[in-house]
Amino acid sequence: MGESMKGLKRTHYCGEVTHTGQTVTIMGWVNKRRDLSGFVFIVVRDRTGIVQTVASEARDAELYKIAKSVRGEFVVAITGEVIARTPENVNKNMPTGEIEIDIRELRILSEAEVPPFQVADEGVALDMRLKYRYIDLRRPEMQRVFELRHKTAQAVRGFFSENGFLEIETPMLLNSSPEGARDYLVPSRTHPGSFYALPQSPQQMKQILMVAGFDKYFQLARCFRDEDLRADRQPEFTQIDVEMSFVDEEDVLQTAEGLMRRVFKDVLGEKLPEKFPRLTWHEAMERFGSDKPDTRFGMELCDISDVVRGCDFQVFAGALESGGSVRGINAEGCAAMPRKKIDELVELARTHKAKGLAWITLPEDGSIKSTISKFFDDEKLREIAAKFNAQPGDLILLCADANKIVFDALGAVRVAAAKWKGLALDGYNFLWVTEFPLLEYSPEDERFIATHHPFTAPMEEDYHLFAQGCPDKIVPGEPGDIRARAYDLVLNGFEIGGGSIRIHDETTQELMFGFLGFTKESAKENFGYLLEAFRYGVPPHGGIALGLDRMIMIMTDADSLREVIAFPKVKDASCPMTHAPNDVPGEQLAELGIKRVSVADTQ
Ligand code: AMO
Ligand code: AMP
Repeated sequence: MGESMKGLKRTHYCGEVTHTGQTVTIMGWVNKRRDLSGFVFIVVRDRTGIVQTVASEARDAELYKIAKSVRGEFVVAITGEVIARTPENVNKNMPTGEIEIDIRELRILSEAEVPPFQVADEGVALDMRLKYRYIDLRRPEMQRVFELRHKTAQAVRGFFSENGFLEIETPMLLNSSPEGARDYLVPSRTHPGSFYALPQSPQQMKQILMVAGFDKYFQLARCFRDEDLRADRQPEFTQIDVEMSFVDEEDVLQTAEGLMRRVFKDVLGEKLPEKFPRLTWHEAMERFGSDKPDTRFGMELCDISDVVRGCDFQVFAGALESGGSVRGINAEGCAAMPRKKIDELVELARTHKAKGLAWITLPEDGSIKSTISKFFDDEKLREIAAKFNAQPGDLILLCADANKIVFDALGAVRVAAAKWKGLALDGYNFLWVTEFPLLEYSPEDERFIATHHPFTAPMEEDYHLFAQGCPDKIVPGEPGDIRARAYDLVLNGFEIGGGSIRIHDETTQELMFGFLGFTKESAKENFGYLLEAFRYGVPPHGGIALGLDRMIMIMTDADSLREVIAFPKVKDASCPMTHAPNDVPGEQLAELGIKRVSVADTQ
């Protein structure tokens, strides 16, 4: 049992005790205890930092005994006098390194078991860190992350409030809708057999708020998507969600740029440019093979289809015959990349559905080597190399397939090659990608899907294609020709935001639902409330949502969203600390009208 705090009030945070001659009371966790003959040193930690305290046997034997009984992670309250450390004990590396607290009173507020790992330990296994997240979060680096996250949220709220936006909460218990990722469902007790869905985003709600006349809305909105986890994807995440009435693309983009400038200035002291560069989706794909390119380095894609057209190499010829292309990148200075590493790039390309990668190396001795030298003589290989302006020391990687696969594979290979080269990629490189395709045909679903979402407006320039019915113009698996009034905000190769100008007339929305395979009835069933709302006076509107977690991940230079979410999920979407998701008693299920069946029975 710990002692009471009664009669004691904390006067200072540990990291703030710097001046000698005052009596202070600190409260926190024991970071470390060190015994020296006749003295006990206790370093105490709280969220601001650490401070050293000392008890002397000669001065107070009773206090000394208590101090000696203290162990790591005990929670203590210490009152004492701040004194200067002796010169040989000064620690220039810590802000409180010139002083220590001469303990007058020490209370053990709670004891602690030996922790599964020390707060100072490095390289603790992830599952341990997450199982004992409360200990992991005590690490100063983690405390800094959440301070920064808080400051960011404050800057966001400040920016929007000052610019006339209202923060409005939208429901967590929503209706399930068939577009987008898989929903998380919540069974209803009052309507047995029916389910709520947790929002994947407040998309429809924020559009209805525009119909309601709120004009400028924002929310730090929790979103839920039952997707496979990745370093930059969690099932539960936070969006800075924004919607505005009577606006066009320019208004939304400028608002988002203003927000970013404010956040980066307030939180990191970084000055961002007045205007962020823009690339159309088409250009981003052609040049970088990605709709979220990292443009801090070159190695741009080059289309060599014309150079190799009519060749005997079946892989290339076949790809070109079926409407694909042969493209490549010049991994400059990578000729000496070990074979094993090149094989990793080939594997990476395969994970993006490419059948393989061919390569040409230009060793420093002026020769030329290639995996496809059986099919191309040196002269032809040099002609290909010339397309890339390749120099001795360069490595050219080629991929032939349908365009989408070529882009995906080379886009990923480009980033991996840059990493291998160890390019110093500093700074914050913001970029808008605009004019996304509106629709793409999904061979798996045998229908069109909206690239962004079903409420995104087509570009006026392409409206004639849309109005005349586009389906027969589209190649399966490839995006269509109709461009959307949609934009993504990209930061250092990560998509940190996306939005669009919305459809606000019924005819267009109905056409859109038609392309997506909805009948009038099924559209009404799923989105009827939105369509109905639109009948009562809908302003033209548009918006954007920014991934707060991804922003914080980049701002803190973390390699995963896990590092910036207090209690994240692991790969199988479970929580190692709470063990969610968990089984529930039969009665609870019965109340919900739910009966357990084995998975096999459902197949
Ligand atoms: P979108 O689906 O593009 O748009 O999401 C917007 C931003 O949210 C972030 N994000 C995620 N972050 C972490 N884990 C995830 N699983 C995850 N999924 C998305 C990304 C992304 O850019 N309603 C629209 C926005 C709009 O049109 O206004 C929407 O949700 O940074
Ligand atoms: P093969 O004739 O199968 O030995 O292939 C010759 C070379 O072509 C190998 O280096 C393969 O990796 C490469 N290759 C295979 N498929 C592709 C592809 N889709 N694009 C580019 N190169 C490929």
